[in-house]
Amino acid sequence: MAKFYVTTPIYYVNAPLHLGHAYATISCDTLARWRRLKGDEVFFLTGTDEHGGNIEKIASENGKSPQEWVDEMSARGVAFFRGLGISNDDFIRTTEERHRLATEAFWKKVAGNRTEDGREYIYKGEYEGWYCRSCEAYFVESELVDGRCPIHPNLRAEKIKEETYFFRLSAFQGYFEDLFSKQKAKPAEERLVVPDVRFNEVYGLIKDKLRDVSITRTKIKWGFKVPGDPEHVIYVWFDALINYLTAIGYPDVNCEKFKRYWPAEMHVIGKEIMRFHVLLWPAMLKAAGLDLPKKVAAHGFWTIDGEKMGKSAGNAIDPRACAKEYSCDALRYFLLREIPFGHDGDFSMKRLIERYNADLANDFGNLAHRTMSMAHRYLNGQVRVPGGESPWEAFIRNQEDWKKQEGDKAIIGAIEAAAGERLSFVQAAFECFAERPLRVPQFQDALNDMWRVIKHGHKYLDTQAPWNQPKEKQEEVLGHVLVLLEAASWPLKAFMPEKAAELRRQLGMPPDERPQFDSFKLIAGDPLFPRIDTKKKG
Ligand code: MSP
Repeated sequence: MAKFYVTTPIYYVNAPLHLGHAYATISCDTLARWRRLKGDEVFFLTGTDEHGGNIEKIASENGKSPQEWVDEMSARGVAFFRGLGISNDDFIRTTEERHRLATEAFWKKVAGNRTEDGREYIYKGEYEGWYCRSCEAYFVESELVDGRCPIHPNLRAEKIKEETYFFRLSAFQGYFEDLFSKQKAKPAEERLVVPDVRFNEVYGLIKDKLRDVSITRTKIKWGFKVPGDPEHVIYVWFDALINYLTAIGYPDVNCEKFKRYWPAEMHVIGKEIMRFHVLLWPAMLKAAGLDLPKKVAAHGFWTIDGEKMGKSAGNAIDPRACAKEYSCDALRYFLLREIPFGHDGDFSMKRLIERYNADLANDFGNLAHRTMSMAHRYLNGQVRVPGGESPWEAFIRNQEDWKKQEGDKAIIGAIEAAAGERLSFVQAAFECFAERPLRVPQFQDALNDMWRVIKHGHKYLDTQAPWNQPKEKQEEVLGHVLVLLEAASWPLKAFMPEKAAELRRQLGMPPDERPQFDSFKLIAGDPLFPRIDTKKKG
């Protein structure tokens, strides 16, 4: 059985979570659910990043100890994701004892190892530079825009000078140049950094000479102490990245869980934390003698009127309100379909409602509803699977871009290979629509492919006009559409778990198994996505 270890960034607990955090987590959730559907053994990790100066500051502003603050905020984080139906297997908090043990062990391991030319990976020195409190990161002067870091234009960077331990990132310059130029020649899905737009950015990161990274603080108290030097507290990023190891049992590298799950298949992150995940983290792992993760998938930002959504911009959207009004699945669908993963996108309720009405209420929900209503009316809900040529197979085989045998869209060959005893052509097609783009991951492509066939379902119904046909023909036409709906309902369990399960229920199919079937016994139900009346919404 294949395994799949997928992680979200662990989220800061200085402010309530918002739609941006939901997006990263929903992306991972979709991947995790898809792999579970395929029968893979999945470990899906999310959690909270609870150390650092920001927490110290916000806790004291609120009259709380850092511990009280992080306990409260982390519990709110857990509830936030529960409210969105996220299926994580573990929730890690960096203030947990298991993480202290892992971080200390990791520190000692790296401090004990040496570079190829015999130098220490960790050494003591003095740091002087510009610091962005919000990023909890140092910048060199040339990186600042108008005295501020590029991500927080509302906040002035501060000049800081302190004694610190450094991590010798500069020792990896040659290694990274070599790694990423070799990677360029590889197909996108085999690269360490995806998607393309973000991979290309990685070159920018290594073009500038890598500098050693300050990995301890003396002015900040809220964090783990450096083993053997308690005046120094481990830098929040050094500690945070190790969470990916803690959750699977580090430092016990011989335990079953660690052996099974490391290296992770995919770290999903936002583009602003790429340099931590594609430079610092791989270097830390190499210094500790551990394998690199297989993939870092970096997504873009949700903006509001062009400005990054977030606490500091004061424009954060609570996704739970949106999910409450239109369903969690509608929100998931919108986030995954609206923008290509890796790019930025502007969020607006107007766009969400437009897409909901067009894609969900009309294309998908209405195809299901009109077909099943007719099947109940004309055939008492009992419909045999038709024999003969499948309109969907003919349609899919006819799509020019899917016929090409090279490039991302060469899907016909994959479908033929997947179709067989277990899967019909159309079932195999929908699995391939999900499988291929999700390796990169590219949710929008997966949904676009599925919707192309779903839309054709309406065209087919309209041209076949079962309402004007004798019973036998009605059964054949409706049977074909039901077969299409079943094919779609399976991979859609990853994207829209509740609605896809409800569709399977109405189709008379078990929610979590995919048996062979030669007829449908439909069960009446409500429309999956009732139309939103935009006039009423004003
Ligand atoms: N704690 C660090 C990550 C440590 S990982 C070892 C951190 N936390 S964060 O709370 O700031 O969360 C950052 C992540 O939230 C981003 O990388 C991104 O995945 C998500 N988003 C936060 N705002 C976002 C948008 N406006 N749009 C999309 N996602 C963004 O950085």
